[in-house]
Amino acid sequence: MKKFIVLGATLLLALSGCGKKEGGGETAAPGGAKSATVGFSQIGAESAWRTANTQSIKDEAQKRGIKLIFSDAQQKQENQIKALRSFIAQNVDVIAFSPVVETGWEPVLQEIKQAGIPVILTDRAVDVSDPSLYATFIGSDFVEEGRRAGKWLAEKTGGKAQIAELVGTPGSAPAVDRKKGFEEAIAKYPDMKIIKSQSGDFTRAKGKEVMESFLKAPDAKQITVLFAHNDDMALGAIQAMEEAGLKPGVDITIVSIDGVKGAFEAMAAGKLNCTVECNPMIGPQLFDAVEGIIGKKDVPKRIVVQEGVFDQSKAAAELPNRKY
Ligand code: AHR
Repeated sequence: MKKFIVLGATLLLALSGCGKKEGGGETAAPGGAKSATVGFSQIGAESAWRTANTQSIKDEAQKRGIKLIFSDAQQKQENQIKALRSFIAQNVDVIAFSPVVETGWEPVLQEIKQAGIPVILTDRAVDVSDPSLYATFIGSDFVEEGRRAGKWLAEKTGGKAQIAELVGTPGSAPAVDRKKGFEEAIAKYPDMKIIKSQSGDFTRAKGKEVMESFLKAPDAKQITVLFAHNDDMALGAIQAMEEAGLKPGVDITIVSIDGVKGAFEAMAAGKLNCTVECNPMIGPQLFDAVEGIIGKKDVPKRIVVQEGVFDQSKAAAELPNRKY
């Protein structure tokens, strides 16, 4: 069972100006947020993780009787910005979104602030100089996930690895942070080196394509490890390895991040060695925060999701518990 832990100081929303709408009046229904409308801009449907995340958010809104205006940005920041502006025009009570990349949000966040609509960031953070532009950020510690992958690998390989890395979407928080955490963890092992690194955009198709090109390179035989920033890219890479006549999980040790069902199936089949969990089921925490904001309660500025690490030894036991 996962528990959500709350880190950091709490934010008094009334003081930050969040949770209060100007002009349009306050829409908090006495005793809860049942009549609230939330605009949510999702990144896309690039991975099994994302699909589970979307479902968790939709299910929870429905369960609580909250009106959800959902918009899929198809992995484009410009589409997200358009969606956010349309939420302002529709005068929603709360805007939530998972930012595809970290930068470039300041102007639209200023517009939302001007409109007096509180913002909740889910899954990924933004890089802004003014933290009052959002009320709270609910999501994983991506740096720690990268560290966990690196630590597991150092133990598994005895500190010797020639690593090919499949990076997530360039400029996205999980790609930047997982790389940072992983590099930090392997830095003390001089015989662990990243010899190839390229983006697979968090998708299975791109993961396969990039792995194919890694395997065609003249130095392909030097690769002993694959570190993939998510399971979908690892699963695509596994296909590429098999098509190249290699045994994934044996000829090349594979560690990835997310913990989706497909990764557990691959571990049970001996094709993937380890997955570091990243929990997408954040719908309940999101709508707790929505209700807190509308009810003018203190909401923590940062809510971190607690997660584990699973290798092949734990895969079979955990597989039946996987919901996504
Ligand atoms: O932001 C979370 C990451 O985004 C997940 O690891 C990945 O699968 C998704 O696309």
